[in-house]
Amino acid sequence: MDRLPTIDDLGKECRRLLHGRGEYFPGLEHVAIDWFSPVLLVTFYAEKENNTPILDRLIKAAKDCSEITAIVVQERHLPKAPKRTVYGEAPESPLAHEEGLNYRIALDRNQNHGFFLDMKPGRDWVRGHASGKRVLNLFSYTCSLSVAAIAGGAKEVINLDMASRALATGRRNHQLNFDPATCSRASYLAHDLFKSWGKLKRRAPYDIIIIDPPSNQGRSFYAEKDYAKILRRLPDLTGSDSLILACLNAPHLDVSFLTSLFADYKLKTRLPRASGFEDLRPQAALKCLIFRP
Ligand SMILES: C[S@@+](CC[C@H](N)C(=O)[O-])C[C@H]1O[C@@H](n2cnc3c(N)ncnc32)[C@H](O)[C@@H]1O
Repeated sequence: MDRLPTIDDLGKECRRLLHGRGEYFPGLEHVAIDWFSPVLLVTFYAEKENNTPILDRLIKAAKDCSEITAIVVQERHLPKAPKRTVYGEAPESPLAHEEGLNYRIALDRNQNHGFFLDMKPGRDWVRGHASGKRVLNLFSYTCSLSVAAIAGGAKEVINLDMASRALATGRRNHQLNFDPATCSRASYLAHDLFKSWGKLKRRAPYDIIIIDPPSNQGRSFYAEKDYAKILRRLPDLTGSDSLILACLNAPHLDVSFLTSLFADYKLKTRLPRASGFEDLRPQAALKCLIFRP
């Protein structure tokens, strides 16, 4: 409890304020607190005695902080991970603000809110390398990496995700940030990756390929089995100068899982962990590696 972050001078930029799962805060391992101005989002991963006192402390702090208009709680340990507002009123269309770009988040729906804060180093890297490039964004979800690529001057971004609703949010994310001509540089394929190789091969080669799958998602993707299938198809999609951003968000698999899969590629660099996501178990955090053929 005493390790709760100080709530003042929050500013506009979205970020993680408390990453309990990183295990640096005894007693708070089941808590995450995120700032999406003007909303504090508190996520509980377990039902614990201190949940109510934590909320009471945050509500008290919010009353003294004019930057916070609402506190929303998500209980990930409950079926469907419901969200509820415990203080104030959240805006109708809340946004994540990052590096001058805006992204829609959903605080009224269950499950994921649509924006992964720990992918910031990936978005920064893509933005810094995308100028004039053709980008393939696999597992694009709400297309935050595509928005970052186009902000960085990408010539074209092809987003692929099997979730058409996530892609619809992705399209809106582009419209939020760019004029119609710039938006037309992004396209969207609502397909299962494993049934789409032909379509992707026809448009190859890509200068940048982003691979950011879930760790395990029912029958759609299972890292231990399916990541290797992507590797087998990669030569059809790359050129000799392509860069590959390969990500892995599976706490049970360490970085050697990726480096051995990419044994035939050159590892250029490993992106730093997002600030605010410090973790006592470094292998548990999101891993983002850059490879080239
Ligand atoms: C970790 S999220 C991607 C996050 C995204 N790159 C970002 O930074 O916001 C994983 C996504 O993979 C998609 N997915 C899972 N299996 C898939 C498959 N077989 N084909 C296409 N998309 C898939 C899910 O719908 C989900 O949106």
